[in-house]
Amino acid sequence: MLTIGVDIGGTKVAAGVVDDNGEIVEHTRRPTAADRPDLVAETVADVVRELSAGRDIEAVGVGAAGFVDETRSMVRFAPNLAWREEPLQKKISGLVGLPVVIENDANAMAWGETRFGAGRGQSHVICLTLGTGIGGGLVFDGALYRGRWGMGAELGHMQVLPGGRPCGCGNVGCWEQYASGQALVKEAREIAAADPGRARTLLGLAGGKIEGEEVTEAAQRGDEASLAAFDVFADWLGQGMADLAAILDPGCFIIGGGVSRAADLFLDRARRAFAERLTGRGHRPLADIRLAELGASAGMVGAADLARRR
Ligand code: BGC
Ligand code: NA
Ligand code: ZN
Repeated sequence: MLTIGVDIGGTKVAAGVVDDNGEIVEHTRRPTAADRPDLVAETVADVVRELSAGRDIEAVGVGAAGFVDETRSMVRFAPNLAWREEPLQKKISGLVGLPVVIENDANAMAWGETRFGAGRGQSHVICLTLGTGIGGGLVFDGALYRGRWGMGAELGHMQVLPGGRPCGCGNVGCWEQYASGQALVKEAREIAAADPGRARTLLGLAGGKIEGEEVTEAAQRGDEASLAAFDVFADWLGQGMADLAAILDPGCFIIGGGVSRAADLFLDRARRAFAERLTGRGHRPLADIRLAELGASAGMVGAADLARRR
């Protein structure tokens, strides 16, 4: 039994045919225009048509970076994309003539990692995907937690710093402004601007505009500003996980997203920050903090599996 999983990102649509063991049979991708969310449904339909040629496909699961309603059909709001009350399910199913399930991108990733990746066999999983924002997904006792209206687990929008950096959601001081991949870049830019002497390697590598790859490479080469940015980022990450543990008491955290490839620059420190800030520390087990295993395909595999169980 085959389903198709689709992962809609800021700049691309990635899709794969997935079997019931979570194995990707075939996959493809297309670029998207970031400023034209109205065209995304057509791009998704296009990849679905390509992948379903000559195959019996049962349903399509789509992971989208936004607040998805409880019927799993509309993206009601997206902090970092232009979707507002977007009827994605209707548009896509109208174009492809198959059952379509829309899911929050991080929920899909959490489901994929828990079923087939780093969370296998775990009963209380919190998944974090660190990219433009922080995506969150909760899988408890084999079930994805969606909240009353489908919008649960928007973990990146915990307001951790009053008066802090403005967030795409309209609030200020959200956690994703401090512990996402993009936040790491912001931190590095701020440190470099305030004290260019500490950022010589970073500024040399970046030329004009500092981006994530350069912060990682500069940190690996010992650039002071970049290392400091990673430390700030790791502390925020650990503290946020401690707050989540205070509410949810997970057995493990799974960390994914682009910046997790630079784990050797922040993971130990984040674990330390978590342990030092955890409420009741010393009188409770520490949740395991581990890296995602399925990489960029977690969302695709998770969405495909959720479509199968729709
Ligand atoms: C959005 C989430 C999304 C996450 C990762 C956040 O800004 O609010 O819906 O899951 O970014 O893409
Ligand atoms: Na989520
Ligand atoms: Zn926010």
